[in-house]
Amino acid sequence: PLQCDRKRRFRVRKSLGRSRPLQLCSCTHVHQADRDTHSLAEQSYPVPREYFTRVQNHHFKDMEQYKRLYERSIQQPEEFWSDMAKQVLSWKQLWENQVCSYNFDIEKGPIFCEWFKGGKLNACYNCVDRHVEAGYGDQVAYYAEGNEESADIRSYTYRELLDSIERLASALKVRGVKKGDVVAIYMPNIPELAIAMLACARIGAVHSVVFGGFSAESLANRLIDAKSRILITCDGYRRGEKIVALKAVADAAAELARENMGYELVQHKIVYQKLDPKQNFVSMESHMDEWWHEVLSTAKPHCDIEWMDAEDALFVLYTSGSTGRPKGIVHTTGGYLLYAAITHRYAFNYHPGDVYFCTADCGWITGHSYVVYGPLVNRATQVIFEGVPTYPDATRLWKISAKYNVNQLYTAPTLIRSLMRYGEAYVKNSQRDSLTLLATVGEPINPEAWKWFSREVGENRCPIVDTWWQTETGGHMILPPPVQGFIQKPGSAGVPFFGIVPVVVNEKGEELSGECEGYLCIKKPWPGMLRTVLGDHSRMESTYFKPFRGFYMSGDGCKRDKDGYYWLTGRVDDVINVSGHRIGTAEVESALIAHGSVAEAAVVPVPHDIKGQGIYAYVTLRQGEEPSEELRKALKHAVREHIGAICTPDVIHWAPALPKTRSGKIMRRILRKIAELGPKVTPSDLGDTSTLSEPQVVELLVSYHGK
Ligand code: WTA
Repeated sequence: PLQCDRKRRFRVRKSLGRSRPLQLCSCTHVHQADRDTHSLAEQSYPVPREYFTRVQNHHFKDMEQYKRLYERSIQQPEEFWSDMAKQVLSWKQLWENQVCSYNFDIEKGPIFCEWFKGGKLNACYNCVDRHVEAGYGDQVAYYAEGNEESADIRSYTYRELLDSIERLASALKVRGVKKGDVVAIYMPNIPELAIAMLACARIGAVHSVVFGGFSAESLANRLIDAKSRILITCDGYRRGEKIVALKAVADAAAELARENMGYELVQHKIVYQKLDPKQNFVSMESHMDEWWHEVLSTAKPHCDIEWMDAEDALFVLYTSGSTGRPKGIVHTTGGYLLYAAITHRYAFNYHPGDVYFCTADCGWITGHSYVVYGPLVNRATQVIFEGVPTYPDATRLWKISAKYNVNQLYTAPTLIRSLMRYGEAYVKNSQRDSLTLLATVGEPINPEAWKWFSREVGENRCPIVDTWWQTETGGHMILPPPVQGFIQKPGSAGVPFFGIVPVVVNEKGEELSGECEGYLCIKKPWPGMLRTVLGDHSRMESTYFKPFRGFYMSGDGCKRDKDGYYWLTGRVDDVINVSGHRIGTAEVESALIAHGSVAEAAVVPVPHDIKGQGIYAYVTLRQGEEPSEELRKALKHAVREHIGAICTPDVIHWAPALPKTRSGKIMRRILRKIAELGPKVTPSDLGDTSTLSEPQVVELLVSYHGK
């Protein structure tokens, strides 16, 4: 059995960064909070019996039936997916003869993957129109819970949703939006964000949602990359006690885009009014800014559907990688929609009538797949939450759950850990009888948080569905199915979903069998996978298919145990996972370097009790610059301005020099170790330092710890 000591973890990282025999530890958990990680991890919990007595509807009778279907999905993928596609989606026209064609081998030709090519459908029609046509127009699609507890509560039925979508879609057309154009959306997590996405889908425009916490510069980069001429935004919103002036940021981004392109890139802004104008004055430029309510009230109430090829793009969503700027991940209409829908249906055992609540923001992939597309295809009734789980206090989520009788709750480990800190009383004070299933995403859930979630929130009667997946995968890939007879293991994401063939490979790209540890790759295509990186297909090929020939490389390390369960061990590239958000170290470094006083910067992850990982930045100043508290603040501010608040470094460590190899490469493993252990670090912790060009740098760096 693996021992969870920090030395071991260090060796793991080292071996991943360099060519050494792989030895991964199964533990990426938050060490300080989790001394008993491994003893807990060895425990296993059957999906609670009470779940089957309390919940009447189940998609699967037992694990035998589930396994048979999994086998079929692997042995006869074309038949399996063809049946699913016909059962779950409404098609204007079925696909031509082939369900799927693909190439995963870069040496044989370009990487590609196509599903249901030639089939015609529309995502908005599948999410909304058909439910209204079938007589469910009065069913609530979204209960919108705003920032304030008692005010700011709204709901949208499927018919109301359709009405707004059609009007907005007509308005977009009038403003020149055509099939294939990329429309940028920069909004808080309100139903209008979903409406904007679906209005694009209705007319075949590709939406590019930018998380409302990103800066003007980040938004501008995305506007420029996708050449978005239309931006749908909002005046501002309240987040806890704070007011976020979103329109001002959107204006600044449009201005940056204009400067960069040399012409007015953004020609229209449609601005949803969320705040009282007395609280947040926004300036509207007459030639390009329009209020959403005015646009909708004057728009044609009906808008024809654009029937799309299954392989036409549905959206682009930017995500961070280890190098360069964020990549625009492109998902297509047929495969993505099907995959989001069936994963939502089976992972959460969702049936119409259940009330489902996902706490994710639509600015991330989880919101795309599990607040918008998946649940709406399944005719779900959901809660969409704009506020923060600790405002006005830490009972907020449980109060919402009681208020709307939420059945399935989907959230993130970081949020669970932050609520754990407030203590059980906040949970106990609320009524959670309606909850039947709990689920998580974003990072490995440490067993301590798993148990707390199960015991305190779920009263030991709810399955805990820990879903592993990525922006690129479109939907869940590995999860513990909430099916009778499945044994859950806290800390493991469980087993592959239908159609998914994960493989664990070693440094050389050789597939390992049985119990093993290595890089997590996927061997066969699945409908929800990314098709390309916007404007740069070779980046898609080199990022995902070059590392190991013939496989999609996830960027995560993992361990597979004797029962075939997967244990994710975290990113193996230069991506930091802060509260479940992917942050590229290169992006933070370039934001720091952009500050005139910085000569060089290196950013590494550091374990963090609540966030999972924190951001630790080493900064070398230019000659003549002196370290100071003001400068530290200014640097943090610079990162916020360049990228957004989620990327703010937790620590800035002044570095007279950085440890480098003779060829000038920064030795990040040494930086990680110093970040993690601080002044207690010993030479033996640092492993092999013989390739350092100036070994004395290490000692100097350690001496600057905490300064
Ligand atoms: C991590 C979020 C372990 C992983 C849907 C992955 C997880 C990255 C889990 C993708 C999980 C997500 N267990 N790790 N259940 N879920 N991750 O693109 O490192 O924002 O590669 O998609 O988050 O993050 P992304």
